[in-house]
Amino acid sequence: MDDEVRLRRLAVIGAGKMGETLMSALIGSGVVDAGDVAATAKHRARLDHVEERFAVQTSLDNAEAAAGAEVVLLCVKPQVAGSVLEQLAGKLGPDQVLLSIVAGLTTAAIEEHLGGEPAVVRAMPNTPSRIGSGMTAVCGGRWATPAQVDLGRALFSRIGRSLVLDEKHFDAVTGLSASGPAFIYIVIESMAEGGVKLGLPRAVATELAAQTCLGAGRMVIEKGEHPALLKDEVTTPAGCTIDGILKLEEGGLRVTLIKAIVEAGQRAGGLVDG
Ligand SMILES: NC(=O)c1ccc[n+]([C@@H]2O[C@H](COP(=O)([O-])OP(=O)(O)OC[C@H]3O[C@@H](n4cnc5c(N)ncnc54)[C@H](OP(=O)(O)O)[C@@H]3O)[C@@H](O)[C@H]2O)c1
Repeated sequence: MDDEVRLRRLAVIGAGKMGETLMSALIGSGVVDAGDVAATAKHRARLDHVEERFAVQTSLDNAEAAAGAEVVLLCVKPQVAGSVLEQLAGKLGPDQVLLSIVAGLTTAAIEEHLGGEPAVVRAMPNTPSRIGSGMTAVCGGRWATPAQVDLGRALFSRIGRSLVLDEKHFDAVTGLSASGPAFIYIVIESMAEGGVKLGLPRAVATELAAQTCLGAGRMVIEKGEHPALLKDEVTTPAGCTIDGILKLEEGGLRVTLIKAIVEAGQRAGGLVDG
C-alpha cells in the first residue's frame, strides 16, 4: 500500500494530547505544512501552546477551522463529541473526510449528528503513537470510499502500525490496544519490582523489564510466530523459566488479563453521551 500521502489542508478539532500527537507526526513527516493546519480547543491557553509549538492556525470556532480542510480530525473527549459535531452539521462538503478518534463513538452516530451523506472514517489509536510506536485500527462509515478509508489508515501509519478493521470490532480494539498500554505499564512495573526484590537497582530493573516487553512484542510481530512457540523457546525443561510460569499460572495472570481487556472493551461502548 502506498503511504505517500499529502494533505492540502488539515483541521484538528480538539488539539489535546492525541490531537497534538497527530498534528506533530503529520507535520513532522511532511504530510501537511504547519501553515495549512487549523487547530481548535476549548481554551485559548491550549491554543497558545500549539500555536507556539507548531506555528499552526488556531481558532475557538470549530466550523471555521474545518472549512476547506481535506481531513477534519476529531480529537475531543467522547462526552463533548456530540455537541462539537452539531457545530459541524451541514458544513462539510463531499470531498471532506471527518476522521474521528473518539472512543466509543460509532460512524453511524457521527453521520447522524452531521446529517446528509458525510464521509466518515473512524480510528482507534493508542498513546505510544506519541513516539511513533502506536497501533491504530481504522474503519469507514456508510459513505466513506475505500480510498478515504485508506487515507485514514495511511495517516495513522505515520505514528506506528495501522490496519483496516470492521467497525464491529472497535470496542474490542479499544479494550485491547487503546487501554492495553496501561496494562503493560503495570506488567513492567511489577516485573521491575521482582528485579528489585532480587537486589537490582530500580532504574536497572525498570530498563530490563521495559526492554524485555519491547523485545518480546517485536519478536511476535517480526517473526510472525505464535507467542506460545516463542515462550516454549525460552522455557528449558526443568529450567528456571518453567518455575516462573508456574507462579504466573497460580496467580491467574492469563485470566486476569483476559478479564481486564473484556471489561475495558465492554465499557468502551458506553462512553458517549447522546
Ligand atoms: N489518550 C488515548 O490513549 C486515546 C486513544 C485513542 C483514542 N483517544 C480519544 O482521543 C480523544 C482525545 O483524548 P485526549 O487524551 O487527547 O484528550 P484531551 O487531552 O483532553 O484533549 C481533548 C481536547 O479537546 C478540546 N476540547 C474540549 N471541548 C472542545 C470543544 N467544544 N471544541 C473544541 N475542542 C474542545 C480540549 O480543549 P482544552 O485543552 O482547551 O480543554 C482538549 O484540548 C478522546 O475522544 C479519546 O477517546 C484517546
